Amino acid sequence: SKCRKIAVLGSSLVGKSALTYQLMEKMFIKEYNPTIESTYRTTFTYNSQEYELVVTDTAGQDEFSIFPAQYLIDVHGYVLVYDILNKKSFEVISTLHDRLINITGNANVPLVLVGNKVDLDEFREVSFEDGKTLAAKWNVTFLETSAKNDDDAKKIFNALLREIERI
Ligand code: GTP
Ligand code: MG
Repeated sequence: SKCRKIAVLGSSLVGKSALTYQLMEKMFIKEYNPTIESTYRTTFTYNSQEYELVVTDTAGQDEFSIFPAQYLIDVHGYVLVYDILNKKSFEVISTLHDRLINITGNANVPLVLVGNKVDLDEFREVSFEDGKTLAAKWNVTFLETSAKNDDDAKKIFNALLREIERI
Protein backbone atom coordinates (compact mmCIF):
# COMPACT_ATOMS: atom_id res chain seq x y z
CA SER A 1 0.00 0.00 0.00
CA LYS A 2 1.03 3.59 -0.57
CA CYS A 3 2.31 5.51 2.42
CA ARG A 4 1.25 9.13 2.88
CA LYS A 5 2.43 11.39 5.67
CA ILE A 6 0.03 13.99 7.01
CA ALA A 7 0.42 16.73 9.63
CA VAL A 8 -2.51 18.23 11.53
CA LEU A 9 -1.91 21.89 12.38
CA GLY A 10 -3.82 24.65 14.17
CA SER A 11 -4.19 26.48 17.50
CA SER A 12 -4.49 24.71 20.82
CA LEU A 13 -7.93 23.34 21.73
CA VAL A 14 -9.39 23.37 18.22
CA GLY A 15 -9.78 19.57 18.15
CA LYS A 16 -6.72 18.29 16.26
CA SER A 17 -6.31 15.35 18.62
CA ALA A 18 -10.03 14.63 18.79
CA LEU A 19 -10.25 14.46 14.97
CA THR A 20 -7.11 12.33 14.72
CA TYR A 21 -8.36 10.01 17.43
CA GLN A 22 -11.76 9.72 15.75
CA LEU A 23 -10.02 8.57 12.57
CA MET A 24 -7.78 6.10 14.41
CA GLU A 25 -10.15 4.65 16.99
CA LYS A 26 -13.65 5.75 15.93
CA MET A 27 -14.13 7.35 19.32
CA PHE A 28 -14.57 10.88 20.60
CA ILE A 29 -12.31 12.06 23.43
CA LYS A 30 -14.17 14.41 25.75
CA GLU A 31 -11.20 15.23 27.97
CA TYR A 32 -8.58 17.74 27.03
CA ASN A 33 -4.94 16.69 27.18
CA PRO A 34 -2.48 19.11 25.59
CA THR A 35 -0.48 17.34 22.91
CA ILE A 36 3.30 17.43 22.76
CA GLU A 37 3.35 15.51 19.50
CA SER A 38 1.99 12.12 18.55
CA THR A 39 2.24 10.10 15.38
CA TYR A 40 -0.31 7.46 14.42
CA ARG A 41 -0.58 4.96 11.61
CA THR A 42 -3.72 3.56 10.07
CA THR A 43 -4.86 1.99 6.83
CA PHE A 44 -7.34 4.00 4.83
CA THR A 45 -9.11 3.25 1.57
CA TYR A 46 -9.27 6.04 -0.96
CA ASN A 47 -10.37 5.58 -4.56
CA SER A 48 -10.43 1.79 -4.10
CA GLN A 49 -6.78 1.84 -3.08
CA GLU A 50 -5.31 1.03 0.27
CA TYR A 51 -3.13 3.68 1.85
CA GLU A 52 -1.04 3.67 4.95
CA LEU A 53 -1.58 7.05 6.61
CA VAL A 54 1.05 8.33 9.00
CA VAL A 55 -0.64 11.17 10.84
CA THR A 56 1.28 13.60 13.03
CA ASP A 57 -0.94 15.26 15.61
CA THR A 58 1.00 18.41 16.49
CA ALA A 59 1.14 20.61 19.56
CA GLY A 60 -1.08 23.65 19.09
CA GLN A 61 0.57 26.53 17.26
CA ASP A 62 -0.02 30.24 17.48
CA GLU A 63 1.17 33.10 15.29
CA PHE A 64 4.49 33.16 17.15
CA SER A 65 5.31 29.44 16.92
CA ILE A 66 8.36 28.25 15.07
CA PHE A 67 7.60 25.57 12.53
CA PRO A 68 9.40 22.41 13.65
CA ALA A 69 11.27 20.83 10.74
CA GLN A 70 9.65 17.45 11.33
CA TYR A 71 6.31 19.02 10.33
CA LEU A 72 7.78 19.69 6.91
CA ILE A 73 10.13 16.89 5.94
CA ASP A 74 8.48 14.24 3.78
CA VAL A 75 5.00 15.47 4.69
CA HIS A 76 2.61 14.98 1.76
CA GLY A 77 -0.28 17.08 3.01
CA TYR A 78 -1.71 19.17 5.82
CA VAL A 79 -4.96 19.47 7.71
CA LEU A 80 -5.37 23.07 8.95
CA VAL A 81 -7.92 23.10 11.76
CA TYR A 82 -9.66 26.00 13.47
CA ASP A 83 -12.55 26.09 15.95
CA ILE A 84 -15.74 27.74 14.60
CA LEU A 85 -16.38 29.02 18.16
CA ASN A 86 -13.05 30.84 18.25
CA LYS A 87 -12.33 33.70 15.85
CA LYS A 88 -8.71 33.90 16.97
CA SER A 89 -8.09 30.28 15.95
CA PHE A 90 -9.38 31.19 12.47
CA GLU A 91 -7.02 34.17 12.23
CA VAL A 92 -4.06 32.03 13.26
CA ILE A 93 -4.77 29.70 10.31
CA SER A 94 -3.85 32.42 7.81
CA THR A 95 -0.51 32.99 9.52
CA LEU A 96 0.20 29.24 9.56
CA HIS A 97 -0.77 28.93 5.91
CA ASP A 98 1.50 31.80 4.85
CA ARG A 99 4.37 30.35 6.80
CA LEU A 100 3.81 26.90 5.29
CA ILE A 101 3.86 28.31 1.76
CA ASN A 102 6.98 30.35 2.50
CA ILE A 103 8.92 27.51 4.07
CA THR A 104 7.98 24.85 1.53
CA GLY A 105 8.29 27.29 -1.36
CA ASN A 106 5.26 25.55 -2.85
CA ALA A 107 2.11 27.60 -3.35
CA ASN A 108 0.16 24.41 -4.12
CA VAL A 109 1.03 22.38 -1.06
CA PRO A 110 -1.83 19.87 -0.57
CA LEU A 111 -4.04 20.90 2.31
CA VAL A 112 -7.58 20.92 3.59
CA LEU A 113 -9.14 23.73 5.63
CA VAL A 114 -11.30 22.45 8.50
CA GLY A 115 -13.69 24.40 10.74
CA ASN A 116 -14.30 22.08 13.68
CA LYS A 117 -16.91 21.81 16.50
CA VAL A 118 -19.89 22.32 14.21
CA ASP A 119 -22.04 20.40 16.74
CA LEU A 120 -21.80 23.58 18.87
CA ASP A 121 -23.12 25.73 16.04
CA GLU A 122 -25.16 28.00 18.34
CA PHE A 123 -21.93 29.42 19.81
CA ARG A 124 -20.30 30.01 16.45
CA GLU A 125 -17.94 33.01 15.96
CA VAL A 126 -16.79 32.15 12.43
CA SER A 127 -19.38 31.89 9.69
CA PHE A 128 -19.44 29.11 7.11
CA GLU A 129 -18.95 31.81 4.44
CA ASP A 130 -15.74 33.08 6.07
CA GLY A 131 -14.23 29.59 5.94
CA LYS A 132 -15.50 29.00 2.42
CA THR A 133 -14.07 32.32 1.19
CA LEU A 134 -10.63 31.64 2.65
CA ALA A 135 -10.52 28.15 1.14
CA ALA A 136 -11.58 29.53 -2.25
CA LYS A 137 -8.77 32.10 -2.07
CA TRP A 138 -6.28 29.27 -1.50
CA ASN A 139 -8.04 26.94 -3.94
CA VAL A 140 -8.37 24.15 -1.37
CA THR A 141 -11.17 22.00 0.00
CA PHE A 142 -13.16 23.37 2.94
CA LEU A 143 -15.06 21.27 5.45
CA GLU A 144 -16.93 21.99 8.65
CA THR A 145 -16.71 19.04 11.01
CA SER A 146 -17.46 17.65 14.41
CA ALA A 147 -14.91 15.36 16.02
CA LYS A 148 -17.92 13.59 17.55
CA ASN A 149 -18.74 12.26 14.10
CA ASP A 150 -16.51 9.55 12.63
CA ASP A 151 -17.78 10.25 9.13
CA ASP A 152 -16.47 13.82 9.35
CA ALA A 153 -12.99 12.58 10.26
CA LYS A 154 -13.05 10.26 7.25
CA LYS A 155 -14.18 13.13 4.99
CA ILE A 156 -11.13 15.17 5.98
CA PHE A 157 -8.65 12.45 5.06
CA ASN A 158 -10.56 11.58 1.93
CA ALA A 159 -10.43 15.22 0.78
CA LEU A 160 -6.75 15.48 1.64
CA LEU A 161 -5.84 12.35 -0.32
CA ARG A 162 -7.73 13.83 -3.27
CA GLU A 163 -5.55 16.97 -3.00
CA ILE A 164 -2.37 14.93 -2.61
CA GLU A 165 -3.12 12.67 -5.59
CA ARG A 166 -4.23 15.57 -7.79
CA ILE A 167 -0.61 16.60 -8.34
P1 GTP B 1 -3.71 20.87 21.57
O1 GTP B 1 -3.26 19.46 21.69
O2 GTP B 1 -3.49 21.67 22.81
O3 GTP B 1 -3.13 21.56 20.39
O4 GTP B 1 -5.34 20.86 21.37
P2 GTP B 1 -6.16 20.04 20.27
O5 GTP B 1 -6.34 20.89 19.05
O6 GTP B 1 -5.56 18.71 20.06
O7 GTP B 1 -7.60 19.90 20.95
P3 GTP B 1 -8.30 18.55 21.46
O8 GTP B 1 -8.53 17.62 20.34
O9 GTP B 1 -7.58 18.03 22.63
O10 GTP B 1 -9.73 19.12 21.88
C1 GTP B 1 -9.87 20.15 22.85
C2 GTP B 1 -11.20 20.01 23.55
O11 GTP B 1 -12.25 20.26 22.61
C3 GTP B 1 -11.45 18.61 24.14
O12 GTP B 1 -12.14 18.73 25.34
C4 GTP B 1 -12.33 17.96 23.07
O13 GTP B 1 -13.20 16.99 23.60
C5 GTP B 1 -13.13 19.15 22.53
N1 GTP B 1 -13.52 18.96 21.12
C6 GTP B 1 -12.71 18.70 20.08
N2 GTP B 1 -13.40 18.61 18.94
C7 GTP B 1 -14.68 18.84 19.26
C8 GTP B 1 -15.90 18.88 18.51
O14 GTP B 1 -15.96 18.73 17.29
N3 GTP B 1 -17.05 19.14 19.21
C9 GTP B 1 -17.06 19.33 20.56
N4 GTP B 1 -18.24 19.57 21.14
N5 GTP B 1 -15.94 19.31 21.30
C10 GTP B 1 -14.77 19.06 20.65
MG1 MG C 1 -3.94 17.84 20.76
